[in-house]
Amino acid sequence: MIDFEQLFARDLPTPAARLRGWPRYNFTGGHNDPEIVPVEELIASTERVLRRDGRSLAAYNQGGDPLGYAGLRAFLADKLASKRGIETAADDILITSGSLQGLDLVNEVLLEPGDTVIMEQLTYAGAIERARRRGASVVGVPLDQGGMRIDLLAAALERLRASGVRPKYIYTIPTVQNPTGTVLDLERRRQLLALSDAHGVPIFEDECYADLLWEGMWPTAIRGLEGGAQVIHIGSFSKTLAPALRLGYVSAPWTVMSRLLACKTDGGTAALEQMVVADYFGAHFDDHVGRLKAALRQKLEALTGALEEQFGAAAEFMPPRGGIFLWVTLPDQVDTAALAGPALEAGVAFNPGLAWAVDPAAARHSLRLCFGHPPVAEIRAGIAKLAEVCHRETGVPERSANVARNQALQSG
Ligand SMILES: Cc1ncc(COP(=O)(O)O)c(C=O)c1O
Repeated sequence: MIDFEQLFARDLPTPAARLRGWPRYNFTGGHNDPEIVPVEELIASTERVLRRDGRSLAAYNQGGDPLGYAGLRAFLADKLASKRGIETAADDILITSGSLQGLDLVNEVLLEPGDTVIMEQLTYAGAIERARRRGASVVGVPLDQGGMRIDLLAAALERLRASGVRPKYIYTIPTVQNPTGTVLDLERRRQLLALSDAHGVPIFEDECYADLLWEGMWPTAIRGLEGGAQVIHIGSFSKTLAPALRLGYVSAPWTVMSRLLACKTDGGTAALEQMVVADYFGAHFDDHVGRLKAALRQKLEALTGALEEQFGAAAEFMPPRGGIFLWVTLPDQVDTAALAGPALEAGVAFNPGLAWAVDPAAARHSLRLCFGHPPVAEIRAGIAKLAEVCHRETGVPERSANVARNQALQSG
């Protein structure tokens, strides 16, 4: 009888729980809209690329560059230039297995136990966890409606400098921030670059959601701005196409890229996916993303409408101008981590805010709702169910649709 518990490495994360199935109303994670996955077109692309280049799959990296499939990197070089203002050669782009692999690689080459990194006070849970697992301490900088507060970042950098600490990076999601949906304007982007330069602390820019703006153009990526050549930039196809494909990318200075590449020892990111995405997006990026954004916008409207109807003034939120998330804050008596269990029992899954906060206490009353996956009717039904459970557990909301909730329940 082998006692594995005696054998496991130290400092492992909490063991995974067995999956209990897909919740009836699933507002968790960063899932995409299943209706918009272009199944027929992907079938056609798959057939085309396999007929043309299928035999190249016999060799690791298709016998080519470990940076990834050249056709996808060429597509990205064009897209980064035209949409994000980043002028880069295709040979300076690394394709990764999801942008999470980009995050892991950047952490691997930069972080050691005892290091410090800076992030927005509310930010992507995966980024906080990963930095902490490498033994780094995370300093959070508050946000306002315009994203990271640059004055408070400057103060944090000064404080750290005074205590002899030079952070390894400033991680930011400037364009449709996760979870708050905020966008850092051009002025703040320039100030951020100036601070990075003054303190010798690189910017690590995560632009997972930058293609999902309802209308107009976002401010140029920080890496695309004057003085931005030292910024490490990651992006993803998860949000524009499909997360299960596991395709992301890194654009970074070669000094960093050469190190990332040396650490990417996985035998190459799945090549068929890269070829299919290059073929499909090479011809259809704008029309696909246009369709997706229209669907997502409709879902966001359904979600905010349902929250207003069911929670009234009890739910505070700022509708984002793009993306897939809504960050909602409920009154102080609602502990969203405590609410998550009963909500799930009733079929409603959401992400309690605390995992998305550098200081978890600051987000105890908040939750993140992803509106990408459920259809509009389920969004409405799911929020009605959530209000019912929340009222039962916490007394919030007191009223809905202008009717006191306990009255409505008694009469219904
Ligand atoms: C800000 C941010 N970065 C990175 C990721 C990881 O995305 P992926 O690995 O699917 O590209 C996510 C996923 O939700 C995210 O929100």
